[in-house]
Amino acid sequence: MEQIRDRVFKHKNYNFVVGHTTPEYIDSLESFEIKDSDVFVVTYPKSGTVWAQQIIISIYELHGNQNKYSNNMERMPWLEYKTAEYTLLPSPRLFASHLPEHIMPPGVKEKKAKIVYLMRNPKDNMVSFYHFSKALADLETPESFDQFFEWYITGNISSSSWFDHVREWYSNREQYNILFLTYEEMILDLKASVKKICNFLGINLTEAAISQVVEKATFQNMKNDTKANYEHLSPERFSGKFLRKGQIGDWKNTLTVAQSERVDQVLQEKLGDLPLSFIWE
Ligand code: A3P
Repeated sequence: MEQIRDRVFKHKNYNFVVGHTTPEYIDSLESFEIKDSDVFVVTYPKSGTVWAQQIIISIYELHGNQNKYSNNMERMPWLEYKTAEYTLLPSPRLFASHLPEHIMPPGVKEKKAKIVYLMRNPKDNMVSFYHFSKALADLETPESFDQFFEWYITGNISSSSWFDHVREWYSNREQYNILFLTYEEMILDLKASVKKICNFLGINLTEAAISQVVEKATFQNMKNDTKANYEHLSPERFSGKFLRKGQIGDWKNTLTVAQSERVDQVLQEKLGDLPLSFIWE
């Protein structure tokens, strides 16, 4: 373990938030027992994790899975922050994770466990992350967007580099049972995205049930849904909104032309050889 700054430590070549987890627990994930029925949502932070959580939890609920839970974080906890005794959770276990591919429990490859990887364009992603960093007390507070931009673009930040995260997961995708989705396609056609997720999970819902999932996952409904909006976090810990703007293209209000061009350049350098495309507005 290497302490990078006050609130960030590096372990296994990835930056974690001090207090959220420990190097020992991360090491223990090497032997974390995976079940075929496990489902993971994997994201770089601020890519729509809570949105995918809400959709997948609703899909399982409408499919007859009536596990009791007080909020989505309890029903679909983060794998890397041990918030419960995970071996005791009823199947299907649902997990969220921001882990990079190289730290994922190796058992995920050996089992039929499913991963939904959700990716968001890096310009909107960094603006969302910037606001989140100012609102969540656990994270380092940037002095300015310019300072945050440098942390983000160099990967010198909790969760390390967005570019590395996407590259690792995408280039190793053949080894996993994985569905790649983008935040932008969910914004543009939520119903089609919900259907894609159902197909991937092998769950057949009626049209009416699919509409119900969509309804529960709209920005406005999630904002008012106490299980989904993360307002159970104390105001001392979190002073913002998880559901902040929920748009494509908000980056234009924050990034300078030079910053936007630098993202384009790094994107080309780091991911230019992969067949990925991005929706920016
Ligand atoms: P903004 O900060 O741009 O508004 P994560 O869950 O990974 O932390 O990502 C949070 C981002 O997803 C926030 O982006 C949030 O508003 C957005 N989001 C969450 N639920 C959403 C929904 N139902 N529709 C659109 N965006 C949503």
